[in-house]
Amino acid sequence: MNKHEQLLRLLLDSEGSDISGEDISRQLDISRTAVWKHVNKLRKLGYEIDASPRLGYRLSRRPEWLQQGELATAIDTRRFGQELRVLMSTASTQQVAMELAESGMAEGLTVLAEEQTGGRGRFGRKWFSPPGKGIWMSIVLRPQQPLQYTSQLTLVTGVAVCRAIRQCTGVQAEIKWPNDLLVNGRKLCGILLESAVEDQRLRYCIAGIGIDVNLEAEDYPEELKGVATSLRLESGKVINRRELIAVILSELESLYDLYAEQGFTPIAALWEALSVSLGRRIRSVIRGETVEGTAMGLDTSGALLLRLDDGQVVPVFSGEIELKP
Ligand code: BTN
Repeated sequence: MNKHEQLLRLLLDSEGSDISGEDISRQLDISRTAVWKHVNKLRKLGYEIDASPRLGYRLSRRPEWLQQGELATAIDTRRFGQELRVLMSTASTQQVAMELAESGMAEGLTVLAEEQTGGRGRFGRKWFSPPGKGIWMSIVLRPQQPLQYTSQLTLVTGVAVCRAIRQCTGVQAEIKWPNDLLVNGRKLCGILLESAVEDQRLRYCIAGIGIDVNLEAEDYPEELKGVATSLRLESGKVINRRELIAVILSELESLYDLYAEQGFTPIAALWEALSVSLGRRIRSVIRGETVEGTAMGLDTSGALLLRLDDGQVVPVFSGEIELKP
């Protein structure tokens, strides 16, 4: 056992009561400063430890790790999440899901990790994925559809996650085109759809979903403060990740099946009802040129239609939009 595991053992043995810094430093044979450092390491892993100069340290809450068995019993779907991999730490669940898809795993295979050390965001950005407090999840999709409709699947996923969050937590998340979920202008969830294509044919997609669930303000690095938020911060409650994962998988399966049967029209209506972008002034870049206009809705491909100030309506197919105040 290394020192922070030994410290955890001590705190667990006296769970609910205080143990002085001096006792810990003697029993672990480390300095008081080292005790403090290890306490902070455990806090980063999701353990809540109260510290008082007079009484010492007390473990007030342990992280609730996702258990594969418990999660499997909560999932009430036919395909999505029926094959499940729950990992403690991995570089990116996208990578693991992709390798499993390559090895022939069926649609619906879901990979979750407590922590990602190389979480991937859109446009090659990093995705902050600390342990125990988020949902970092990738799902294998094998859609039977022409390649040009792939981006619609990101909208299907966004709608499913947004509905699940509202239903499960009451937090009124909204979708910023194409599929960032925001609350009060701060980002709560990001979705990354990666595809494997061969001879102009879609072989499979990996739908990656990252949700800040139980992060607290101090968990965020400086660059995300004021930009990102979590379900815990927005609802004031610790959220049960297992329940939320189960509802996301069942919403996603239903909407994915609806999309396969009836096409994009019903999805576009659901997306528009949850959108924070519609009717708002938007700035975007189209073929290198910055444009500004009012968001009107989605076209049949899933592009966002902008009405420019001269009355012309143009589609935004990819990239990012900026919501103007
Ligand atoms: C975005 O940039 O908004 C998309 C973020 C997607 C993050 C998720 S977390 C699970 C999956 N694994 C990754 O490495 N990325 C996606």
